[in-house]
Amino acid sequence: MLGWLGLEKSPMFAFILKTFPSLPSIRPLTDIPRTLVAGTSLLFLGVCASAQTAAPQAPARTTYQPVFRLDGGNTTYAFGVNERGELQQLYWGGRIAATDTITPAKSALEQASFDSSYNNTPQEYAGWGAGLYMEPALKVTFADGNRDLVLHYASNKKIDDQTLDIVLKDISRAVTVTLHYQMDPESGILARSATVENKEAKPIVVEQEAAAAFALPPAHYTLNYLSGRWAGEWTLNRETIHQGQRVLESRRGTTGHQNNPWFAIGKGGAGEEGGEVWFGELAWSGNWRIAVEQDTLDAVRVTAGFNPFDFAYPLKTGEKLESPVMYAGYTRHGYGGASRTLNKFTVSHILPNGPTPKPRPVIYNSWEATEMNVTESGQERLAEKAAELGIDRFVMDDGWFGQRKTDHAGLGDWYVNKEKFPNGLKLLIDKVHSLKMDFGLWVEPEMVNPDSDLYRKHPDWVLNFPGRPRSEERTQLVLNLARPDVRAYVYGFLDKLLSENDIVFLKWDYNRNWSEPGWDQVPPNEQKKVYVEFTRNLYSILEELRKKHPKVEIESCSGGGGRVDLGILQYTDEVWPSDNTDPLDRLTQQDGFTRAYPNQIMLSWVTDSPHWQNSRATSMTYRMLVSMEGALGIGANLDKLSAEDLATIKRLTAAYHGVQKTVAQGELYRLISPTNGSEFAATEMVAPDKSQAVLFAYVHSTQEGRGFPRLELIGLDAKATYTLTSIEGKTLDGTPTEASGLWWMNHGIDLVLRGDFQASAFRLDKK
Ligand code: GLA
Repeated sequence: MLGWLGLEKSPMFAFILKTFPSLPSIRPLTDIPRTLVAGTSLLFLGVCASAQTAAPQAPARTTYQPVFRLDGGNTTYAFGVNERGELQQLYWGGRIAATDTITPAKSALEQASFDSSYNNTPQEYAGWGAGLYMEPALKVTFADGNRDLVLHYASNKKIDDQTLDIVLKDISRAVTVTLHYQMDPESGILARSATVENKEAKPIVVEQEAAAAFALPPAHYTLNYLSGRWAGEWTLNRETIHQGQRVLESRRGTTGHQNNPWFAIGKGGAGEEGGEVWFGELAWSGNWRIAVEQDTLDAVRVTAGFNPFDFAYPLKTGEKLESPVMYAGYTRHGYGGASRTLNKFTVSHILPNGPTPKPRPVIYNSWEATEMNVTESGQERLAEKAAELGIDRFVMDDGWFGQRKTDHAGLGDWYVNKEKFPNGLKLLIDKVHSLKMDFGLWVEPEMVNPDSDLYRKHPDWVLNFPGRPRSEERTQLVLNLARPDVRAYVYGFLDKLLSENDIVFLKWDYNRNWSEPGWDQVPPNEQKKVYVEFTRNLYSILEELRKKHPKVEIESCSGGGGRVDLGILQYTDEVWPSDNTDPLDRLTQQDGFTRAYPNQIMLSWVTDSPHWQNSRATSMTYRMLVSMEGALGIGANLDKLSAEDLATIKRLTAAYHGVQKTVAQGELYRLISPTNGSEFAATEMVAPDKSQAVLFAYVHSTQEGRGFPRLELIGLDAKATYTLTSIEGKTLDGTPTEASGLWWMNHGIDLVLRGDFQASAFRLDKK
């Protein structure tokens, strides 16, 4: 068998096949007619005439091979049409000169009869057909049972200098895929998605549809991905990519705590501040999957899109299915460079108020203080105390509506509970305004408790399979938002709430995963569309609400960080990363979170000590400095805090306001990562114009008298002079208060920081 390798084109191989006809063989692809249309565009690099020689028995013919190239930031992405007509990735990496020629595509060799050329070729968007064993981008079943889909290039359309559509078509059936490409000129982040259209006379079923596939040539790679669970999100995992597949996914109906749709792949010894890293993120809040696989020949492919598990989306003649968008980028500046590039892009291009959204207001949220025992007087008292501390926004959490006393009842009944708020919300909102804060409210629109008026009236509105049990989680069920009547109800009550009350912020929660995802109001072959239509309707509600109530901001929460992705972030301003507010845990969570998402959106509350989850006692200063790494919030019970703790909150909140823009939108450098049980942690944020830097440092538990490692700062203006001011904590005697950017970066700062759960923070301002 070994003797076959590389022999497939030889007369000996032909002889073996003739002699042993039952041996596996790959059918020739070249006898299938195809049309290649060479378009013109700035991105379209050229047409190359080549004689096709792949199949000895097929007549040689001349084909035209367009090459396309997209440049942005420090990145070039190129792809082209190979001699068979498939679209093939040619290059993805550091930017190359505009004058450089990109060699037209050529399909990969067959290698052995077990590894078809169709499989080995790094196709941009491979249909499942011919000899494909890698993850397909698209899998379709036709009305006659045919499941073979081989996509060839048909045409291209330049939309502008950075945006291009490529149309692929099956070699014989009228199914087309339009691949959308948009390169961000600043960051080099490429947005890719696909639209499948059925032009056959009969319906087809789409069983798998990716946004995009990306290829990396054989090398030693390390995959970085995020995993977690409720109150334990954002764990950064690093593992060597080996042959086989690593699947990152959600089958939970929503983004999920389990994995986040983000990856970063480092080459060789890539580290925090150096080395090549490719990264990407899928913008979808429903079932998703990112498959990272190394093939038998060591090449790596990343395929991302709808999760094909239980997926079947029928398309009638003329219907289309659009995939989510996959954003992907490249850097030479290590994992830190990858997150800075991605996060800047998210702030500028994804968030609803980009390119320069306001830093988040400092909020007070009473959830951990009162849970569902909210009352008008209790909330007013907390609001008075919050205002004293310099809080910008007061948020009332769960418990204000329907018959909500515990989590057993009330979800779905979005009227104000008269026992708790006899005057409606108006008195409380007026009080909050009189204290110079604005007002926000918690909602969980997609859920219903069986003990609610809504469920009693519309038991059929929930996801379910008739006649089967309905699994409750937190005694609640999921409303089927794919249904037009449910969508109308959810939009309707939110619109009413926002129209009748002066509310500028919604904390939009989602406290369980799906089960029994049935949708029996549509024909059986349409029911699995729920996976797409639910999320689409969620996005459309958010979009419509924002349009009608432009001053309303929205937080995405799902029992903490269960719904954080670039899809929902197009409509939401911040997220609740975790219900776990223990500051030590938060440090590593924040490290993981900021790999994929910006500080701008990372809400972080200071809560009570000892912490409810870990029973760990920490000082107010430590808790404040951990939360100040992100969008600061206070969630402690203000009725119980000591005068000293209240004074600490007030002092540090004022200091936070002075550096908040840099923290939220600056370049983040992880000087010491708290992962892997590190005793120390330190982060630095530098304002985009380098006028200010903020430094946070934390020690877990000093051992053997070890001092804090010297911190050499990064990213300052080398020639400028910066003044160092302590927000909290001390530097070693003799540390200058004024020095050049070069001094802070090359010499570094020595901190005096020892003990258990200690923290310090400094600001550097350009003179
Ligand atoms: C979820 C959220 C919490 C809180 C509760 C209310 O768990 O993550 O912050 O709002 O719901 O029920």
